[in-house]
Amino acid sequence: MSVGVGVLVSGSGTNLQALFIAGAAPDYPAHIAAVISTRRDVQAMDRARNAGIPAIWVSPRQHESREAFEHALTSELLHHGVEWIALAGFMRLLGPDFLQAWPERILNIHPSLLPAFPGLDAQGQAFDHGVRISGATVHLVDEGTDTGPILIQGAVPVLPGDDRDALQQRILRMEHRIYPKALRWAVEGRLTRTGKTIGIDLPEGEQAWILEPA
Ligand code: GRF
Repeated sequence: MSVGVGVLVSGSGTNLQALFIAGAAPDYPAHIAAVISTRRDVQAMDRARNAGIPAIWVSPRQHESREAFEHALTSELLHHGVEWIALAGFMRLLGPDFLQAWPERILNIHPSLLPAFPGLDAQGQAFDHGVRISGATVHLVDEGTDTGPILIQGAVPVLPGDDRDALQQRILRMEHRIYPKALRWAVEGRLTRTGKTIGIDLPEGEQAWILEPA
């Protein structure tokens, strides 16, 4: 049985596209059941419509409180048979009620090797810091900003001549490789959380990291 996943987006949706592609494989254990955005006209919504997936706009401004907005999100997700949530460039922090409604069921992807450079513009933070290696992380969402337990990380070099945008693109390509893997392990029930860490019952031959050669 394929597990229904809801993807929450706010922007271009390239990670969403990577999850669509993964989900199209016959042996992939999850399918994107709904895409929800707080912004109506973003490219991610076009990608969802083009893929024939429900693309739902839920506006925070049309709800009187954060709780009401998040309740509307949960209602839409449940209505579409969602069991797991993947945040993919979703630009809002989720509150305690929402986290309690989806305990350890929300994944996020962040464009740095956490715990370095949480928050906004992680690629710019890393670039300005002069790091030699950066990358991306998929983690479970907790109440903090990019603080949840880590599932998988992919590392990429910062090459001579890179600017911030070149680094962002290299990280993004890595994001597209690690997110489908992490989602697969999650929906297959391979995760065991112990405090701040997650053990993964990895399929044979797989690792919870990728190191991209220069
Ligand atoms: C990605 O860099 C992701 O790590 C971050 O927001 C960006 C979303 O990009 N959370 P896209 O919308 O998936 O193209």
